[in-house]
Amino acid sequence: MKKRILLGATALVAAGVMALAGCSSERGGGSGGTSEGGSETSAPAGFEAGATIGVALPDKTSENWVLAGKLFTDGLEEAGFKADVQYAPASNTVAEQQNQIQAMVTGGAKVIIIGAKDGKQLSTQVQAAHEAGATVIAYDRLIENTDAVDYYVAFDNFKVGQLQGQALLDGLEARAGHPAPYNVELFSGSPDDANSAVFFDGAMEVLQPKIDDGTLVVASGQTDIKQTATDGWKAENAQRRMDSILTSTYGDKTVDGVLSPNDTLARAIITSVQQAGKPVPVVTGQDSEVESVKSIMEGIQYSTINKDTALLVEQSIKMVGQLQKGEKVDVNDTEQYDNGVKVVPSYLLDPVIVTKENAAEAYANVPNLLEIVKQYQ
Ligand code: BGC
Repeated sequence: MKKRILLGATALVAAGVMALAGCSSERGGGSGGTSEGGSETSAPAGFEAGATIGVALPDKTSENWVLAGKLFTDGLEEAGFKADVQYAPASNTVAEQQNQIQAMVTGGAKVIIIGAKDGKQLSTQVQAAHEAGATVIAYDRLIENTDAVDYYVAFDNFKVGQLQGQALLDGLEARAGHPAPYNVELFSGSPDDANSAVFFDGAMEVLQPKIDDGTLVVASGQTDIKQTATDGWKAENAQRRMDSILTSTYGDKTVDGVLSPNDTLARAIITSVQQAGKPVPVVTGQDSEVESVKSIMEGIQYSTINKDTALLVEQSIKMVGQLQKGEKVDVNDTEQYDNGVKVVPSYLLDPVIVTKENAAEAYANVPNLLEIVKQYQ
């Protein structure tokens, strides 16, 4: 699903140089507008100003999705487009999202931006979009096993995982109160979200060597992504799994750290440990949700990730503008995100790790979070 052809310094430097130079090696234009490997196959067509742009978002499993809907509606209207923003409901989510995308195609949307509920189950709809001449942009989550996805715009989710893994190690050193070995547990996201494996693989790249050398001990023995998964990204599922691990494995032992893929799950894991009457471990997170930023400032949750939704939406709308005018679409990575059929030209933004120590700096451009941080300083 995701290929790291050039993972490491060379790839990152190359991507950085391209980004700095504003280089783009791909062109837009809907079906047939791009080809694998970065060359142009036909002149981009452009489309009328004021066209309808579809935005299909998944169910609201974290605050970032709620915010994205509002920012897309406002930002697209401001840029002169007609915005058709839809959320998949919490039940029958996949089928409902498929219907929503199909309706956008029928309604003549020129670009369809998709935050997939299940990135493996949208090939029929994105194919239909292409046949109707629309461009498909995968937003935050990759759409898999189809060549009918033109672009991917996201924070570098593999890097998110690496940052989480490193934060867990740093937090243990700072807070565990004893030298290694440390008892840790691992959580991953929902198996139907392509990002879940990307986050987990990034984190395990950092953590696996420390498990191998005995610095970290996964006391439950549950290290496989199938065992660590959290269906639907639901807090209650993470809490239930943590409850059961504590009961089966920890007795009078202490859990020193937990890899959590996002803030919603981090808070559920912390609740589980607190209810068991044990000391709160070092717990990672992601999304900079308000309750987690407060928890970090209170010294409870250890870390989160700032993936500023405003920047991601802004970049997506910029791409729509470029497509409308028939201009080159900016991408800064054409190598990393393989969806099983093609390497999808991507615009990747840089995620930032946030702990109590750097929160003020990390949220310097996020006024509502900066406000919270200041209340604790
Ligand atoms: C997003 C995360 C989010 C998770 C659950 C993922 O695809 O990248 O930011 O925490 O979905 O909503």
